[in-house]
Amino acid sequence: MNILGIDIGGTGIKGAPVDLESGKLLHERHRIDTPKPATPDAVADVVKTIVEHFGGGDRVGITFPGIVKNGVTRSAANVDKGWVDLDAAKHFVKKLGLPVTVVNDADAAGVAEVHFGAGRNVPGVVLMVTLGTGIGSALFLNGNLVPNTELGHIEVRGKDAEKRASERVREQKELSWKRWGANVGEYLGRLDALFSPDLFIIGGGVCKKADKFFPFLKKFTAVPILPAQLQNDAGIVGAALLAQHIAG
Ligand code: BGC
Repeated sequence: MNILGIDIGGTGIKGAPVDLESGKLLHERHRIDTPKPATPDAVADVVKTIVEHFGGGDRVGITFPGIVKNGVTRSAANVDKGWVDLDAAKHFVKKLGLPVTVVNDADAAGVAEVHFGAGRNVPGVVLMVTLGTGIGSALFLNGNLVPNTELGHIEVRGKDAEKRASERVREQKELSWKRWGANVGEYLGRLDALFSPDLFIIGGGVCKKADKFFPFLKKFTAVPILPAQLQNDAGIVGAALLAQHIAG
């Protein structure tokens, strides 16, 4: 079966067909800038262009940067508010004419890491956080996902955590690695206090530069911290995996 994974982010929408046995992309991914504003129609047009770029597929797994319950998008912190309470699965099916599964972006990335990456065969509580436009989270117990945890929105120093520790904040405020690393570390310390995880996985494009900020995290938590292994492909791979499991 040919399953495409498509990852909708605050800045880019990217997709590729995925080999579900190996977790590898079957073709180089195709990326298009997220339309501004990121309305449901504008985003679905981009998703369609990406699907057509690969000549279609049997089904499509799509990530969304907000809460997704049974295909309905329930929040939209960093995208157009037109997504709130939209039946996104139905919306994409109408546009693409293909079976579609819609899942939270961090949940998808976490599922990919637990299957093929840093969380593979790790028992106990694994907590992945993705540092990007916002902060996403994926919580696992013995490899099983608790969906839609939204831990990027817990408060640290009276502020939404993603307003202090996302990659976007680092860039916009031009924070040094040390300063931003302390914000991320403090955030992980809070999560440690609340969930006592056995492993943290850090995802998002910035995990390519883990050596720059990981040294600043250690003093805030004794929990092992690993960078995501699938890096920027995790969302695409996880979306495809979830499309297979849910629809299959
Ligand atoms: C959203 C989450 C999402 C995360 C990363 C947050 O603002 O609330 O649902 O996973 O950003 O995109």
